[in-house]
Amino acid sequence: MALVQLAQVGKVYRSLKGSDYVAVRDFSLDIEAGEFFCLLGTSGCGKTTVLNMVAGFETVSAGDIRIGGKPIAGPAADRGVVFQGDDSLYGWLSALGNVEFGMRMRGVPRAEREQKARHYIELVGLKNQEHKHPSELSGGMKQRIQIARVLANEPQMLLMDEPFAALDAHTRADMQRELKRICAATGKTVLFITHDIDEATILADRIGVMHAGPASKLKGIVPVTLGEAERERTHDNFVAVYRRVHELIRDEVAIALQRTH
Ligand SMILES: Nc1ncnc2c1ncn2[C@@H]1O[C@H](COP(=O)(O)OP(=O)(O)OP(=O)(O)O)[C@@H](O)[C@H]1O
Ligand SMILES: [Mg+2]
Repeated sequence: MALVQLAQVGKVYRSLKGSDYVAVRDFSLDIEAGEFFCLLGTSGCGKTTVLNMVAGFETVSAGDIRIGGKPIAGPAADRGVVFQGDDSLYGWLSALGNVEFGMRMRGVPRAEREQKARHYIELVGLKNQEHKHPSELSGGMKQRIQIARVLANEPQMLLMDEPFAALDAHTRADMQRELKRICAATGKTVLFITHDIDEATILADRIGVMHAGPASKLKGIVPVTLGEAERERTHDNFVAVYRRVHELIRDEVAIALQRTH
């Protein structure tokens, strides 16, 4: 049985003015335990909506989502979420305080949680910045602290919504490598949203492409069976995966553009 099962999931956003918006319809997907699944699609197609439903922040309007065979009842510690944007840090806590927060809530002793928090802050490349508060950090630094905070809670699943979008190319490549290493080492199951086909091809075991909205669902899934040496932009097999994903998404970009003009 797959760890995450989305079966004919639908999401209707109810508007106060009475005009409902069907964001997602008939969305079905199984994600295996330990799998790294990347979700791609045009802006506004419903990627964040899907992630928020898996996270338990949004209810489904139709169908159901199960984790380990059980319907989800809301957000839980087994799913760590990295949000799109970087505004969910607590402004009154230092970077270290933010990363420690979840462990403090669970009663992890001070020395242990501080050591773990420092470890994850170092992993995201922010050693010696841990005393700073969010207002003293750049956008990319805040995003990395968010990632450290989620990793420090050591959830079974990572739900990541364009987590590296705000980072410079160099830091981004470092973070991609690090995330891959952590996931391989700890067997985490990942649902990762990105706009970037290169990023998806570097990271994913499978890449799912969504239709343009409204009433979006998966258009196709591309398996990525590349070895480490093939996960290079210039490798022929890498380019072949890129092309397949690009072919799936190309028409959707045109459709999305037409619908907004
Ligand atoms: N709370 C909400 N109320 C009403 N409509 C919403 C709400 N959240 C999202 N939508 C609509 O649902 C659709 C899907 O939004 P969603 O945020 O899931 O897109 P996305 O694929 O994540 O886009 P992006 O790539 O720009 O982040 C959009 O048309 C959006 O306007
Ligand atoms: Mg989004």
